[in-house]
Amino acid sequence: MKDRKPLALFLVIPMFVAASTSAAQSLRQAAQDIGLMVGTAVKPALFSNPDYARTLVRQFNIVEAENEMKWTATEPTRGVFDFRAGDRVVQFAEAHDVKVRGHNLLWGKYNPAWLEKGRFTPDQLRRIMKNHIQMVVRHYRGRVFAWDVVNEAFDSEGHLRHTLWYDEPGIGLAGKGTAYIAQALRWAHEADPHALLFYNDFAADGINAKSDAIYEMVKDFKEQGFPINGVGLQMHVFDPEDVPSNLGGNIGRFTRLGVEVQITEMDVALPLAGHGQASDSQLAWQAIIYRNIAKTCAENPGCTAFQMWGFTDRYSWIPAHTKGKRGAALIFDADYGPKPAYQAVVEAFQRVLKSHPQIKEERLRFERRVAAIGY
Ligand code: G3I
Repeated sequence: MKDRKPLALFLVIPMFVAASTSAAQSLRQAAQDIGLMVGTAVKPALFSNPDYARTLVRQFNIVEAENEMKWTATEPTRGVFDFRAGDRVVQFAEAHDVKVRGHNLLWGKYNPAWLEKGRFTPDQLRRIMKNHIQMVVRHYRGRVFAWDVVNEAFDSEGHLRHTLWYDEPGIGLAGKGTAYIAQALRWAHEADPHALLFYNDFAADGINAKSDAIYEMVKDFKEQGFPINGVGLQMHVFDPEDVPSNLGGNIGRFTRLGVEVQITEMDVALPLAGHGQASDSQLAWQAIIYRNIAKTCAENPGCTAFQMWGFTDRYSWIPAHTKGKRGAALIFDADYGPKPAYQAVVEAFQRVLKSHPQIKEERLRFERRVAAIGY
């Protein structure tokens, strides 16, 4: 992949050193000091687990439902909405002064069977899509600060994926490029004019064919005055030998268009030996990857959130997804102990504060400027 480079290039950067002050400072506090939001995907079924809940509220100031605001959860039957699991996320967040990112309103995959197998006409699909987006966004109006409106619409070559929403059969805009994405954004904006609206994708972290296509789309939307506020770069690292290069350049080009960038789903999956454990050197390597990504985001005023796809290795999606071949992808171990990667991210934020003492104000200024430009 042309946006990836061997980790060897990162190794020239000195290993992180655990600063004496950093152990005491939480990730949440270190992020707050530089005006950055720090978040994680959550499973509301685990809020009653004291270790899970305690770690979550001490370390993070954004949460995002890993699955509970997706279409399968919110509209399991046509026209019948179920917000119970998503509401638990919002109630938990509000009780702990944490913000909620919403994920997601429209995706070509993992939709309920009634929708995938319904053989709807474009006209019916258009109505189903509008109703879904607006019911969900209205339900969470004022309580979800940002939505991933459309998820993973491009393939690795930068072409639009063939999906129900685009051209199989689509909502009547098949062959019209990103018009269906613009339509989704407009409907979401009508339902909550104050929510920040994001396009979110994976493997678009560096500069490559997919991120080029997203860039062209965002540029076009900004020129046409369509409501888009940000781009989510998921940052799933599957091969620690092959991490995105030029993340900074990619963030920079998007933010120059007047949109925010958020790292939305970071994890670093390690290849596990037969015993299922990562070695110390793998964990040190993983820490370097986390630190570099965290630093790149933190020092760029247009990168407004750094979020991971879970926080404890006990509940990561990676082992199930890789049939146990990879794992240990997050910053806390299965017993909620901080891993070297945790320390590395805290320290990256602390160092950015030292090297860019004005970063918090710069980030605030960026957010205000982008909000003032509008659409
Ligand atoms: O809850 C059911 C359970 O009742 C059933 O027995 C079991 C049998 O398969 O499935 C369970 O649901 C699974 C759900 O995760 C909860 O664990 C679904 O099958 C499974 O498809 C679903 O996977 C999720 C996947 O998105 C698809 O929605 C993963 O947890 C979630 O981590 C993953 O997240 C995505 C982001 O939304 C977008 N970016 C990539 C990221 C990782 O794939």
